[in-house]
This record gives sequence, C-alpha cells and structure tokens, in this order.
Amino acid sequence: MKIRLHRLSKAFGGHLALDRVSLALEEVRTLVLIGPSGGGKSTLLRIIAGLEYPDSGAIAINDQDVVFEENTLLKHRRTIGTVFQAFNLFPHLSALQNITLPLEKVHGYSQAAAEEIARQLLVRFQLDSHAMKKPAELSGGQRQRVAIARAISIKPRLLLFDEPTSALDPEMTAEVLDMITELRDEGRDFILVTHEMGFARRVADQVALLAEGRIIEVGPVQQIFESATKLKTREFFAKVLKY
Ligand SMILES: Nc1ncnc2c1ncn2[C@@H]1O[C@H](COP(=O)(O)OP(=O)(O)OP(=O)(O)O)[C@@H](O)[C@H]1O
Ligand SMILES: [Mg+2]
Repeated sequence: MKIRLHRLSKAFGGHLALDRVSLALEEVRTLVLIGPSGGGKSTLLRIIAGLEYPDSGAIAINDQDVVFEENTLLKHRRTIGTVFQAFNLFPHLSALQNITLPLEKVHGYSQAAAEEIARQLLVRFQLDSHAMKKPAELSGGQRQRVAIARAISIKPRLLLFDEPTSALDPEMTAEVLDMITELRDEGRDFILVTHEMGFARRVADQVALLAEGRIIEVGPVQQIFESATKLKTREFFAKVLKY
C-alpha cells in the first residue's frame, strides 16, 4: 500500500492528540505504530479508519484521498477491517452472528452466504465449536479471534488493528500473533498498534514512533530498532526493552 498523511491534527478539548502528523510511504505492507501511552496512536488509527474526523490535514491511501464527509466515509469504512479494543463484539449476539450481522446488514450478503463465510472463518480460527456462544462465554483470546475473523470476513485490502493482543495471556497472544502473521503472508496490508516489541519487530516492514501527538521517527523496522537516530526513540526503547 501507498500511504500519505499530510499535517493531520486533532485536538480534544484543547489538548492536541495529533499535532501535524505527516508521513509518506511509497510501499508498505505492515506499518506498525509504537510509542508511549497517550501519544496519539489510537487517535491516528481511528482517523485512518474513517471513524474520527481530523481537525485539519489530509490522508491518501493508494493515491485516493480519504474524504471526510459522512457518505464517502461510509464507503471508506466498508473497505477496511478494524479491530479496536474498545469496540469489540456485540455482547448480545453469538460468535457466529457477530460475523454474519455486518455481512448481511452492511455489506448486503444473503443470510446463507454470510453464514457460509462465517462458518469457514470459525473453522479456520478453531472457533467452530464456539459458534453459538456469546462473547461473555468466550475466553479473551477466543473473543479477539472472533473480532479478527469478523474484520477479515469482508476481505478488506487494509486491516487496522489496535493492540489486538492486549489483555491476553502469552499463549493467546502467540495465537493471535500467528494469525496476523498468516494474514500478512496472504498479502493483506496492515497498520497496527502494538506494545509487543518482539511482534512489532517480526511483522513490521515500517515502524513509526508517535509521542505527544507527533511522529518522532519513521523507517524500516531494522533501522528503527537498531539504529534509531532520535533521542526520544532511543529513550522509548530503553524503557520498554528494560524488562
Ligand atoms: N475521545 C477523546 N476525548 C478526549 N481526549 C481523548 C479522546 N481520545 C483520545 N484522547 C486524548 O488524546 C491523547 C491521545 O490518545 P490516544 O488514545 O490516541 O493515545 P495512544 O497512543 O493510543 O495511547 P495508549 O498507548 O495508551 O493506547 C491522549 O491524551 C488522550 O487522553
Ligand atoms: Mg491506544
């Protein structure tokens, strides 16, 4: 994917969550956003997903401008698969229905077609025996896998994941990370936010570090991890890699 962010700003009640964020990557498969808490990662991801309006600035994905106007945004959102921690599954629906409902209601699939897609995904992610369970009856990892299954059910070209493994134990984390690696190898483009540095290193081709609403540094994964030039990046790594 080609991605261009041009001076994106977003304030919440006088606090600048994003401060003229610019980024231009000609070809990136997996862009990983890292950085300290409160740095603006989720805000940026939500704006790219078309779920939030920037105050100013512009975005283009594959040379197509993301137009921040409700009708166009609806279309934009439909082409993107998202997994956001706070916007997870519908609690009153089964795992299966969580996947079929958007396919039917938003994407116009027939019930039979939606169920066929959902069943295949549930099998693929070893969730078939949990199809009828509500989210509260699933483990954290299973829930996250349903959310990911739902995100890819629409066959999006671009997937946006915000900390898909937070709140999972190491084994579940490994499972979800394997799943993401598999999807990446299938050729899907990703922008993901993670605090898992090991994972970031394994899947990213480009890494951007956001802090205090600004992109501090962006570059190929190896360069950022091994020879970051900015003091803030090195400080961040010193902190997160300490334990
Ligand atoms: N809806 C909102 N209303 C008010 N302030 C917000 C809102 N969303 C984000 N903020 C503020 O914007 C800043 C950036 O938040 P954001 O969630 O993007 O950070 P983050 O990098 O994702 O952090 P974390 O790693 O903790 O998830 C924070 O100071 C946060 O408090
Ligand atoms: Mg966040």
